[in-house]
Amino acid sequence: MISSTVDLVLKNAKIFTFRGIVTGGLAVEKGKIVKLSKEPELPRADETVDAKGFLLLPGLIDSHVHLRDMELSYKEDFYSGTCAAAAGGITTVIDMPNTVPRTSSLKALREKKQEARKKIVINLAFYAGFPSRLNEVEKMAKEGIVGFKIYPHDPLEEIDWNNEEQALSYLKAAEKNNLPVSIHPDDLETINKLQSELKQQKLSDIEVFLGSHPATTEKKAIVKFTEWGTKTGCHIHICHVSSVESLTAIKEEQNRGTKLTCETTPHHLLLTKEEIKKQSTFAKVLPPLRTRNDNTALWAALLEGIINTLASDHAPHSLSEKEKPFPEAPSGFPGLETLLPLMLMKVAHGDLRLEKLVELTSSSPAKIFKLKNKGMLLKGCDADMVLVDLKEKWKIDPEKFYSKSKFTPFNGWKVTGKAKMTFIKGSCVMSDEQIITHRGTGSIINIKL
Ligand code: NCD
Ligand code: ZN
Ligand code: ZN
Ligand code: ZN
Repeated sequence: MISSTVDLVLKNAKIFTFRGIVTGGLAVEKGKIVKLSKEPELPRADETVDAKGFLLLPGLIDSHVHLRDMELSYKEDFYSGTCAAAAGGITTVIDMPNTVPRTSSLKALREKKQEARKKIVINLAFYAGFPSRLNEVEKMAKEGIVGFKIYPHDPLEEIDWNNEEQALSYLKAAEKNNLPVSIHPDDLETINKLQSELKQQKLSDIEVFLGSHPATTEKKAIVKFTEWGTKTGCHIHICHVSSVESLTAIKEEQNRGTKLTCETTPHHLLLTKEEIKKQSTFAKVLPPLRTRNDNTALWAALLEGIINTLASDHAPHSLSEKEKPFPEAPSGFPGLETLLPLMLMKVAHGDLRLEKLVELTSSSPAKIFKLKNKGMLLKGCDADMVLVDLKEKWKIDPEKFYSKSKFTPFNGWKVTGKAKMTFIKGSCVMSDEQIITHRGTGSIINIKL
């Protein structure tokens, strides 16, 4: 039956488009934007929401998220993690494979999806690790993953990422299936060598940690994998770029026309290693926080277009794990609920244009990871949206996180700009800090190649 009304009209909004802000509203039918126009031209709707003049952005796509769950659900699970995303204005996340069990087999991937389906409240896509059997690569690709992830310093399967022949065979297989390969740029041999050298000297635990993860190793790994990407035609995406050295190498390759994209994080843009002295394990993350000079270079590269995406690297751990002595405490902290406010703060300060923010957190990740009909507010696109108040001033308080990880190195930061409502395919899932939907209402994205 054809109905004369649409499912939802959001009115009285300032709608972000790459052609400028439209003051008006939009109509949603069956999860898709069917009209975007000035007020009088909007159709009648089953439900009308007043946007109160706030700014409507495409929902954020966070392409680097550790939702954990399974045997690590004490750190985070698909429900708590996706609630945290919704609270932070994020409508799609891409989940990382370094879980227990590792997402590096068809079986593990299917199990994870099955668990996720019951719990998620937003859109979820998956990365996988390379399987030990090369012939499983195609089967995993057919299962709809966005790409493969490599941790050369901590391989998910027994694959030696220093063995060129072996590495090339995996990259070739990814390329054959038209999937990008994302790299955590590091190297185990170098870490171990540096660690044992540094431990002989009378250095603090923090100095040993920093010294064993220098920018030079990051850069070397980037250069190596980029070279292998060129040899195989595989699209390489570098995760959490943190240093000037790495940026120089990436820029050189991009100028040469290499198919190479990269990501950075809010913490690498905003924090320095000084934070580790103040906050200890709460600021322990990989790659480590570096220097003011690196922050500045990352901002410049971001504005220049060398950096393609901005992602949280949401890496939740339990408080008791973070309270361990520095060398044993795990690296990483949650980021889903701080990504957007920190960046809106930079918009409010005039340091970041709104267009650039939307590109980095919505349209560009959608393009890189082939998330169809996502990342833009256009007729025909999925109505994944976040309504933001650009002016609201508030203080980051991890006690209020939906994430199970109730700490952040940004604790107490005064920010300007807040997500007020989050919509997934036209239905409101978060309003005024409250999650107003049920577990399992989100959807899993399977990439069709
Ligand atoms: C991540 C984690 O905890 O899974 N930790 C981190 O410090 N970033 C792993 C990673 O992204 O490398
Ligand atoms: Zn309808
Ligand atoms: Zn990493
Ligand atoms: Zn990560």
